[in-house]
Amino acid sequence: MSSKELRKKFLDFFKNKDHNIVKSSSLLPNDSSVLFTTAGMQQFKEYYLDKKSPYGNKVASCQKCFRTSDIEEVGDERHLTFFEMLGNFSFGDYFKKEAIYFAKEFLDTLNLKIDYVTVFEGDGEIQKDVDSYNVWKELGFSEEKNNLIFKGRDENFWGPTGEEGPCGPTTEIYINGIEIWNLVFNEYFQDKNKKLTLLKKKGVDTGMGLERLSMIVQNKPTIFETDLFLPIIKEIENQFNLKYENNNYYFRIIADHIKSAVFLISENIYPSNIERGYILRRLIRRAIRYGKLMNLPSGFLLPLAKKVIEIYKDVYCEIKLSENNILTVILNEEEKFEKTLNKGLKQFEKIAEKKEITGEEAFHLYDTYGFPIELTKELADEKNIKVDIGGFYNFFKKHQEVSRKGVEAKFGGIGKNADYNATRLHTATHLLQSALREVLGESVRQMGSDINSFRLRFDFSFPRKLTNEELQKIEGIVNQKIKEDLEVKREEMSYEKAIRSGALSFFKEKYPPKVSVYSIGDFSKEICAGPHVKKTSELKKFKIIKEESSGANIRRIRAVLE
Ligand code: SER
Repeated sequence: MSSKELRKKFLDFFKNKDHNIVKSSSLLPNDSSVLFTTAGMQQFKEYYLDKKSPYGNKVASCQKCFRTSDIEEVGDERHLTFFEMLGNFSFGDYFKKEAIYFAKEFLDTLNLKIDYVTVFEGDGEIQKDVDSYNVWKELGFSEEKNNLIFKGRDENFWGPTGEEGPCGPTTEIYINGIEIWNLVFNEYFQDKNKKLTLLKKKGVDTGMGLERLSMIVQNKPTIFETDLFLPIIKEIENQFNLKYENNNYYFRIIADHIKSAVFLISENIYPSNIERGYILRRLIRRAIRYGKLMNLPSGFLLPLAKKVIEIYKDVYCEIKLSENNILTVILNEEEKFEKTLNKGLKQFEKIAEKKEITGEEAFHLYDTYGFPIELTKELADEKNIKVDIGGFYNFFKKHQEVSRKGVEAKFGGIGKNADYNATRLHTATHLLQSALREVLGESVRQMGSDINSFRLRFDFSFPRKLTNEELQKIEGIVNQKIKEDLEVKREEMSYEKAIRSGALSFFKEKYPPKVSVYSIGDFSKEICAGPHVKKTSELKKFKIIKEESSGANIRRIRAVLE
C-alpha cells in the first residue's frame, strides 16, 4: 500500500468515527516558545484547555513535523528531521478506552500485528495507568503474556510542548520492535515551574509517524526504502552513477536533509544565521558536506530537491506553489557554500593539527567560511579532537551584539512623530507588499522597512532580481489602487483572529494579545500599529526608484510618492 493510500486510509477511518479532518498546520507554530511544529497536537493545544475547538471535539490530521532533536540519529533505519504524523484527537470527548480500541481496530484493518504495548507504571506524583492496562487486558495484552510492559516517566509520559501546556501518561504500540503509535492521555497541565494540575477536560492526542507505518506496511527494512524516500535515493543513484547499499548513511542523511530543506523553504524560511534560517542553513550545509564525502558534483542538491517536490506536491499545495522559489534558494545556498567549503576544509585541517580548536578558530570557520558550529564539531569528532564550544559562543554573542545594532538601525520603523509624508509612505508600503505578493507570489514576506519623509525602503523575501516588467507591473498595481481611492480601515482584534482572517504579520513574537489590523479595501490587510492615511487617493502617485539585493534571498525596493 502506498503512503498516499495510507494517509487517506487513516483519515477516512477516523472520519467514519465522526472525527473532523483538519489540515496540517504550518511548520511554524503560533507558540513563540518553540521554533517548529514537532507534533500533531500543537495546533490544538488550546482546545485541551478552556478554549472551544472550532472543529468540534474529535479531530484527526496528518501533520507536517520537524525536529532537530534526532539529527544525530538520522541515518539509522528510522530517525528523521522532517516527518508526517498521523493523529486523532479528543478534547474532552472520548478517552482511554475508545482511543485504544480505535488504534487496535485501525491496525487490524491493515492486518498488522502488535508486538507489545507499554503503559505508564506511575511514580511518586502520578498514579499507575490502571485504566489503560485494563483496556489492553480486554484486548488480550498482559504482563503474563509478555506483550504489555509498564514503563516510567521517561518513556510513558508526554508533553508539554513549549514552556507549558497539556501533558499526560501515554500508552505506546510497538510493531516489529519499533514504536509506531503514541497515545497520549492529556490529564494534566504543566506550568512554567513544572507544576502539574489536573485538567478540567480530559483529552486524547495520538501520533503515528507515516514513514514508520509505511515501512512496516510496505515491508521495508528502513524508512528510506519506502515510497516516501526511495525516489530520492534512486535519484542519487541515477544522477551520479552510484549504488545505494542498504546501510549507506550518507545517502540517507542527504535524503533526509534535502527533504526538510524543501519543506522549510516552502514555509518562507530562508538560510540565514539566526533561528529557523540557521537551522535550514545547517541542514543544507550538512547535506553538501556529505555530498562532498561521496564526491558528488557541485549543484547535486537541485535534482534531489526536484524529486522531493514531485513526491509531495499533490499532498501539500505550498510545495507546489513555491516550487521555483525552493529551487532558487537551494541553488543560491549551494553556490554560496561551495565557494567557501573547500577553503574552509583546508583551514580546518590546518588548525586540527593542534588537537584542540579554540573558540576563536571555530568562530573564524563560521564567520569566514560559513561553517555552522555543529559542522565544525562533527568534523572534530571524526578526528577525535576537541572544540571549545563555550568559547565559540562568546565570540558569537559579541558578533551578534554588533550586528543587532545594525539591524535595529536598518529596521527602525516610524514612530509617533512621523510627519504626514511619512504616513503616506507608510500606507504605500502596505500597498507595495500586496502588489509584490500579487506579482511574485504569496511567498513574499516583509523582512524589514524604513521610512522617512522622503522615501520608503522595503525589504522582502525573494530569491532573485526582479525584472523590469515585474517592477512596472508592481508600480502599476499600486497606482491603480491609489486611483481606486480605497478606504483605509483600522480594527482591533486578537492576534489569532487577525491571522485567521488573513492579515499579514511581521515579527509575530512581539504582538500583544489585542492587535490593530489595517485593511485597505479588499486589497491589503496587515497587523500594524499605524499611522496611516484615510484614503489611498492621498498618496497621489507612487514610483519605484530602485530595486536591489539586501542580503541572501532578500530584495530591497526604494520608492517615493509625488
Ligand atoms: N504528541 C505525541 C507525540 O508527538 C502524540 O501525538 O508523540
